[in-house]
Amino acid sequence: MNRLQGKVAIVTGAASGIGLGAARRFAQEGARVVLADLNGEGARREADSLCAAGAQAVAVTVDLGDETSIRAMIDFTLKTFGGLDVLFNNAAATHLSQFKDSPVEQMDTQVWDDTLRINLRGCMLASRMAIAPMRQGGGGSIINTSSGSAQAGALGYSAYAVSKAGIEALTRYIATQHGKEGIRCNAISPGLIVTPATEQGYAGPAGQMMLEHHLTPRLGSVEDIASAALYLASDEAAFVTGQVINVDGGLLAHQPYYADERRAMAIAQE
Ligand SMILES: NC(=O)c1ccc[n+]([C@@H]2O[C@H](COP(=O)([O-])OP(=O)(O)OC[C@H]3O[C@@H](n4cnc5c(N)ncnc54)[C@H](O)[C@@H]3O)[C@@H](O)[C@H]2O)c1
Repeated sequence: MNRLQGKVAIVTGAASGIGLGAARRFAQEGARVVLADLNGEGARREADSLCAAGAQAVAVTVDLGDETSIRAMIDFTLKTFGGLDVLFNNAAATHLSQFKDSPVEQMDTQVWDDTLRINLRGCMLASRMAIAPMRQGGGGSIINTSSGSAQAGALGYSAYAVSKAGIEALTRYIATQHGKEGIRCNAISPGLIVTPATEQGYAGPAGQMMLEHHLTPRLGSVEDIASAALYLASDEAAFVTGQVINVDGGLLAHQPYYADERRAMAIAQE
């Protein structure tokens, strides 16, 4: 409890999934939280329920594809809470990556542009606008959200993967340029986390296939990522910056033939 006491935190994409889990966790730990989402109604509902439980939380509608809207989110935060200590850049256009993104050869240029505009440019703009108030407050923590898809190839969602790879580079650049001002910047790279964005797609055999490639007995939960974000947001991570932290059940830690090998060994043992 109280690991974020006195801090002001913005969580983008806080109406759903990982962002909502992190917003709840930040609030439980004493932060004053701004739940920012394109789905402003959902964010408001969740902020109200946090307030009913005794937390300090407000909601704001934001479109991370729009610079003016991001400016309004930052200004609203400064006006409401008087500063900014933590920015969790969590939102992504998951509706595009799930339903419209594709292999490169079939790539729709508009989908490519929209994905990079919302995921990567949105993350850069929110970070850019957060830096001055963080500096004024003596420092801060920017937490970005990558994905395993930035680190290894896959058959689809190329635009999403490239946007996340850009976010990893952006993380190191912000950390390098602002570390001496007490501003840390790290990224979390989640494995398969069961959220509204993923639960349908991975409910059946696809989920089983993914589980076989994680080293853990289960897939990830929203709480797994919220815990990592809480650590990076808190002063406990004062010496951690410029890092991409895989919170992925070891998904990218093993040899590519790991699942095949396990299957082969099980067959050999029979
Ligand atoms: N769930 C996973 O398995 C997984 C794995 C790797 C990375 N991630 C990353 O974690 C983050 C959260 O994923 P999730 O599974 O919780 O997704 P989600 O779809 O449940 O939540 C995303 C939220 O972002 C909001 N959003 C979408 N477009 C927006 C915009 N233009 N402006 C503002 N808000 C917008 C949505 O309204 C939604 O509330 C994303 O960055 C995603 O890429 C998730």
